[in-house]
Order: sequence, then C-alpha cells, then structure tokens
Amino acid sequence: MPPRAQAESQIESLRQQIRHHEHRYYVLDDPEVSDAEYDRLVNELKALEAAHPELITPDSPTQRVGGQPREGFVKVAHSSLMLSLDNAYSEDELRDWDRRVRDLAGRDDIAYVCELKLDGLSMAIRYEAGELARAITRGDGSVGEEVTANVRTVRSVPLSISAAQLKQAGLPPNFEVRGEILMPRASFERLNEERERNELPRFANPRNAAAGGVRQLDPSLTAERRLDYFAYALTLEGRTYFDRHWQTLDALEAAGFKVNPKRKLAHSLDEVWEFIQQWEDKRDALPYEIDGIVIKVDRTALQLELGFTGKAPRWAIAYKYAARAGITRVINIEVNVGRTGKLTPTAELEPVFIGGTTVSRATLHNLDEIERLGLLIGDWVVVERGGDVIPKVSRVITEGEIDGKKYLRGTVPFVMPEHCPECGGHIVRAEGEVAHFCVNTSCPAKLRESLLFFSSRYVMNIDGMGEAIVVQLIKDGLLKSVADMYSLKHDQLATLMLDAQKEGGTKRRLGEKTAQRIMDEIEASKQRPLERVILALGIRMVGERTAQFLAEHFGSMDDLMAASAEQLQEVDEVGPRIATSIVNYFAEPRNRELVERLRAAELQFTGQKKQKGTKLSGLTFVLTGTLVQYTRDEAKKLIEDAGGKVSGSVSKKTNYVVAGTEAGSKLDKAKELGVAVIGEEELREMLG
Ligand code: IVH
Repeated sequence: MPPRAQAESQIESLRQQIRHHEHRYYVLDDPEVSDAEYDRLVNELKALEAAHPELITPDSPTQRVGGQPREGFVKVAHSSLMLSLDNAYSEDELRDWDRRVRDLAGRDDIAYVCELKLDGLSMAIRYEAGELARAITRGDGSVGEEVTANVRTVRSVPLSISAAQLKQAGLPPNFEVRGEILMPRASFERLNEERERNELPRFANPRNAAAGGVRQLDPSLTAERRLDYFAYALTLEGRTYFDRHWQTLDALEAAGFKVNPKRKLAHSLDEVWEFIQQWEDKRDALPYEIDGIVIKVDRTALQLELGFTGKAPRWAIAYKYAARAGITRVINIEVNVGRTGKLTPTAELEPVFIGGTTVSRATLHNLDEIERLGLLIGDWVVVERGGDVIPKVSRVITEGEIDGKKYLRGTVPFVMPEHCPECGGHIVRAEGEVAHFCVNTSCPAKLRESLLFFSSRYVMNIDGMGEAIVVQLIKDGLLKSVADMYSLKHDQLATLMLDAQKEGGTKRRLGEKTAQRIMDEIEASKQRPLERVILALGIRMVGERTAQFLAEHFGSMDDLMAASAEQLQEVDEVGPRIATSIVNYFAEPRNRELVERLRAAELQFTGQKKQKGTKLSGLTFVLTGTLVQYTRDEAKKLIEDAGGKVSGSVSKKTNYVVAGTEAGSKLDKAKELGVAVIGEEELREMLG
C-alpha cells in the first residue's frame, strides 16, 4: 500500500476506535479502556493527522473544539416549531389531562412514555448525510440561535453517524434530533469551585451555567464546561418517523445518541403515577438535576390526531415536582470555620418546610456572594434546596407584596468578623482570594473539621468516625492531629463517654463492639491509595482531581514533597497558585511532621506512576509563536506524554525552542544563547 493510502486507513481505523471508546465513556458511562489507552489513541491520530493535514475531516474526534471565536450568533428559523409543554402540578391535574386524551382519542387503552424532565435547555441538532450539520437553540420556538461550534464540543453528541449505524437504527441520513443540553452536578460543582478560586461570581444553578456555556463566543470555553446532551425526540421536516415514540427513543440510542435509560412505557395512569413517585424520592441520587417527569402519548398517529394548543402539544404534559424552594426570613448570619480555616457565612433561617424537610440554615458561600445578593439580616429570601447540595439563598425578596403577603427589607448589614468565632484568632483575606481565613494553626474548629474530612467517605473512608465521636476524642485530648487517629487504642474508644442522644439521658459508653468496628475501619484505611492520602492532607486548593493528577505524576509522596513550584506546574491542571499552595504546605514543619507520622502508620506513600513515553525524556522545550497543527496546550501535552518537559522561558537548560509563526522575543533569546530552534514539522518527527 502506498504510504498515503496506508495513513488513510490507519486514520480511519483510529477514528473508529476512538468513536467507539467515546461512546462507551460519554454515552453509555461504561468505558472499556483506561484513560491512558484512550489518550494514546487520540495522540496517535493527532500525529497522523498532523502529518497528513489534507486527511483531516470535520467529523474527526480531534475536531470537536475548533474554529475562531465568533462575534455573535446567527438567528435561524427552526424546520418545525420547537414546542414547550403544558405543566401539571398535582395528581388531579394529571388525571384531568389523561381523561382529555382518552376522550379525544375515543378509547381508553392508551400507552404513555414516561421520561425524566431534565433541567437544562433544549437544543435541535440537524444531521445531513449522517454528519452533524447545525445545532440551534430553542429561542422563541420558531427562531433560535445557531450554536453549532459549541454543541460540537459536547462529547455525548455524535459528530457523525455511519451508514451502517443509521441502517441499524432505521434512520434516514437527514434528520433532526431534539434534546436537552445540561450540566451534570459534578461539572457544576467543579466550575463553581474554579470560579471562586478565580474571584468570579458563582453560578446559581446548573441550568444557568449550561445556558452560559452554550452561548460562549469561543467554543473552547464551552468545552471547559463539560456539558452533556440527552436526545428525546426526532423530527423529519416536522414529521414523526416511527409508529411509536418508544421506537424513536430506541432508534436514537441505536444511532449513538445518549437517551435517558430511566424511561418507562406505562399502560395506565396508575403506572405513570408510580413512575413519578419513584423518581420524586430518588432524584437527588441522579448525577444531574430534573424538575419533573414528561409524559408522552406513545403512538405517533394518535399524537398527530391530538395536535396542539398554542405552543404546546395536547399529547404530552410535564408533571412538575413541587419547587424545592421556599420563602423565609434570615434571622442571623453566622460564620462557620472549615478545615482549612476558611470562613463560610451561613444564614440562620426561620425554619421553613421545603420539599419534605425543614430547612433552618443555608450557605452563603462568601462575602462576595452576600454582596451579590444584596442581603441584609432580617431580609426575606428565596431558599432553594437542590439535589444533595446544602440549601442556598437564591435571592432577596424586594419590598412589596406576593400573594397578598407583605414583605419588608431587613436593616442590618453583615460584617465579616475580625476574629475567628471559634478561637479568636486573626482573620485575613489573602490577596486574590474571595474567602476569609482564620490563620491560627491550632484553631480547634480546623482540627475538628480536618478530622471529619480525613475520615469522610471520599477521603480515608473511616466509617463510624462521626462528629460526636471526633468531638469527644478531641475533648479527651486523644486527637490532637489527624495522625493521632492511628495511635488510638481499642480501650480508649470502648470507654469513650458520649452524650446520650435523647434529652435527659445520661452519658453512654461507646462500647466494645463499636470500638472494634472503628478500629477495623482505621486499619483498613491504611490501604487507601496514594491519591487519597494526598487529598487527606487537606492542602488548600488540592481537591480530588488534583490529588489524583499529583499521584499519577509523581508516583510517591516523597517525590511530591520534593517537587519545586516549577515541577509541580508540569502536572495537569496545576497552575502557579496551586503549585505555591503545595510548596507552602510542605515547607511548614508541622505539616512535614504530620506526613512523617502518617508514613510511620504505614499509609500508602507510593502509587502507580502514569506511564509516560520516553522518546523525549531528559529534553526541555520552549514553545513560542502560533503553532498551526496543535494548540499550545496540545503540543505541551504531547511533549509531556513523550517524557519531555515544557518550560515557559528560554535558558541555557533549554534543549529546543519550537517556533511557530510570529515568534517573538523567545526566538531572539534562543539565538542569543545558541539554543536549537526547530519548527512544528521537526517536533512531530521527534514525537514519531
Ligand atoms: S419533550 C413537544 N422531553 O422541558 C415536546 N422535553 O417544559 C417538547 N425537557 O422545552 C419537549 N426533558 O427543554 C421533552 N424528556 C423530555 C424533556 C423535555 C426536559 C424540557 C424541554 C422543553 C421543556 C418544556
């Protein structure tokens, strides 16, 4: 085979493998290979495409994020109206709807499809000849905005569907899917943490964050939001295609779309109601937010017959779960101290019943957030309780009347205390930080919170080491540091006296059995992998992900401790601020002592280093100018994956400067120092 033809077939084979793994990972949530193996395939494809740019096609998995930032969005008419849904808020309203459907249909045996009502924004995606051609927001239902480049970055959206897949799914080459773009809770939490670090206001909820993500002018910013897409409808020039909606969903799934597996074909309203209740209880456990259940007539012929009223179909309805929000008053704002000493203002509320529980506190995150809300003590506020997150104040009610009730504004502004409410220590707000911190290293609140963090499920997972026990162990002087956990004796635990839970009760002994169970848990925690131990140290700005990257990069606690700020920045997603935080942590003698005690307790101090290539090991590169085939970040990753280093400035230690177009002062510096200058082509050859 001539080399070009060979490359062509290799590229095609790689693309197929990558698409397959992306489908397993992003759509089915069930990966078959490790991230490293997947990265290897992608890097191989990138290298081949770089050598044969003429073979790059828009549907290549390497081409999700691309194009120049735009100036604005173009308005486009929808091929058929993008409808909204009528809502039902009670079982009665739902039964009324069912009755209307049966009356209009003239029959009683009606099948309904029940789906989760995903809380995102709807998106129409058009495929032409099996290729993603256009993505359009709902807009006003008849005209939306074209956001194709942004939607391409959503990994669960297929860029192309092969003829074989279309055939298997029973779909024509041209069609339009409609579905919901949403931000999973995990992406949302991460985004808000990142924004807080960068002094940006938090997003109020995942839907707003998703909507903002879709409207980014630069698609690479959309990509960073880690959005997801679920398909729930198919249209062909406004017509339905299959006899039954249930078949439509199966077909979309077969074509490679993510279709929510939590769906049900119900044969009576009782079955529908059962599904609704089942998910009302379980919805907090979903990785994304839902706000109800959508019920649709299954038979498409009947859908046609029933038709529409105004902007909503008669054949479908949204059952909305009771809003998990309520109105109440802020009695006071107290300040809680976290394990890092971070102060979190928390609203004390007049107790209010929201979605099945009584809420009497809500987080306010930080001072900026209080200012953003414009909150005064005494204000009436809307409190929301979503998913597993702590209730939060979403807005202040301005003076006036709602449903015949008068609301007045509060009068007392919140002032951040100058001394720690738990220990009286100094409070500082470091430059470039949103949060305030207590700087007293022996603040008792920090100790309590660190111990609770250390034992928590996602860290060392020491089941049974709950707040009451931790507080008592601190009081008795048995826990002065997290390392003391490993010196605890069975008898000390067994004889621990806890306050009885019921009022009027006397103290109770923890007892032999519980003590043994906790001792076993502590013992088992010694097997938690290195990344958990790194996380458990509680280094500021080092969360679960960063801890994992650090463990993979360094492979041992000792190498991590010895790393300079510069070396730390070679780790994925570690910038100067995180690097400094890590260096400062290990510079503190108390922290080093803690680490040594944990080592003596035989925690896991080594792990599996992520295998890197060796082609470029020992070589340091500096990138300058605009590269054509890769973005800077991509080139950096490729070099690092091949064992090389990338530095920000040219010095005598630099082995190669990779110069793109319009290279500036770094190129001059290289010439001055006599450092070898290479182009992208040569870099590619070196990468093999
Ligand atoms: S069907 C004519 N199915 O809810 C059918 N919509 O309140 C129109 N939504 O605009 C939509 N999950 O953005 C449908 N499983 C689902 C849905 C869903 C969420 C959204 C959609 C729609 C809104 C109507």
